[in-house]
Amino acid sequence: MSITTKNIIVEKAETSKIDQIDFDNLAFGSVFTDHMLVCDYKNGAWETPKIVPYQSITLDPSSKIFHYGQSIFEGMKAYKDENEDVFLFRPLDNCKRLNISAKRMAIPELPEEHFMDGLITLLQLDEAFIPKKSGSSLYIRPFVFASGKGFHASPADEYKFIIACAPSGSYFSGKVKVLIEETYSRSANGGVGYAKAGGNYAGQFYPTQLAVDKGYSQVIWTDDTDHEYIEEAGAMNIFIRIGDTLITGPTSDRILDGITRKSILEIAKDQGISTEVRKISVTEVVEAAKNGSLKEMFGAGTAAVISPIATFGHQGTDYDLPELENDYAGKLKKIITDIQYNKAKDPYGWRFKVSK
Ligand code: PLP
Ligand code: COI
Repeated sequence: MSITTKNIIVEKAETSKIDQIDFDNLAFGSVFTDHMLVCDYKNGAWETPKIVPYQSITLDPSSKIFHYGQSIFEGMKAYKDENEDVFLFRPLDNCKRLNISAKRMAIPELPEEHFMDGLITLLQLDEAFIPKKSGSSLYIRPFVFASGKGFHASPADEYKFIIACAPSGSYFSGKVKVLIEETYSRSANGGVGYAKAGGNYAGQFYPTQLAVDKGYSQVIWTDDTDHEYIEEAGAMNIFIRIGDTLITGPTSDRILDGITRKSILEIAKDQGISTEVRKISVTEVVEAAKNGSLKEMFGAGTAAVISPIATFGHQGTDYDLPELENDYAGKLKKIITDIQYNKAKDPYGWRFKVSK
């Protein structure tokens, strides 16, 4: 049956997969809900979004996504509170960032109402898949790619915007051990590092695999000129606490402007934590580790939330971070997740209730 709400065409799945999902043992992003949103760009315009049963898609082998990597994505979460009300966190920021990425990758920008109305309708339909367990959530993956055909190396004339959702547990399991990267670069001045472009992630896989082979879980990227300044991790922004000051690098055209990062900066300031947004050198971090003033390092991102780093490796030496009782990471994580899961007041207006 097909119905149209808010200008979204809805085709419901005949049967549900919900009984196949083990909500007590959710991995990250590996099981999917009953429906997905699909919106096509054709003849110079985005068409009416459709919600259809979750399914595979068919593409022509010449589709430009396969050859020239025109593809961008976003990462968001839906949270359920004790009353089973559903919330998003700063969703318009994701929509705006998708369009910043779109512009850089010569992809036509998407109307905000297609994104927001489509997402809300999808969440209303698949609401039962949003985990109730604290720490779990529905990971939402909006993405756009070039479906248009042809080997000519130029922007495609057709695109697909899809939103797929996965009930998920935590992104990292166990302690996070990172390696400060000094050979490879994630991004460069004037490049696409600030965009959430698929290729940014593909380019990280080989150097990250080399680090994994040495026992690390992630790479910390440094600037591409001298490998002297900390930039960000593969899927999160980085915060470093030296003494009582919380430091993170400035965003630039090489770094993703993380929504979690900017939220943490605001919360930390309001908690009276001294914060600095400035370039932070590897030499300073290694010195601080040696003289004992390095107190914490943590990653921040939608998938990773706030993930404390237990150890960092640099030039063949591993430096362990101390285990603190009242760490900033734990305090900030509680405040941000209490806002996300509607367990505390939201003085910032970041929480977005999804109507039932
Ligand atoms: N940096 C990179 C490269 C990422 O992939 C992510 C994840 O989205 C982040 C930072 C954190 O951004 P956000 O907090 O908006 O999820
Ligand atoms: C997110 O945090 O949502 C991301 O996009 C990171 C992803 C690569 C898992």
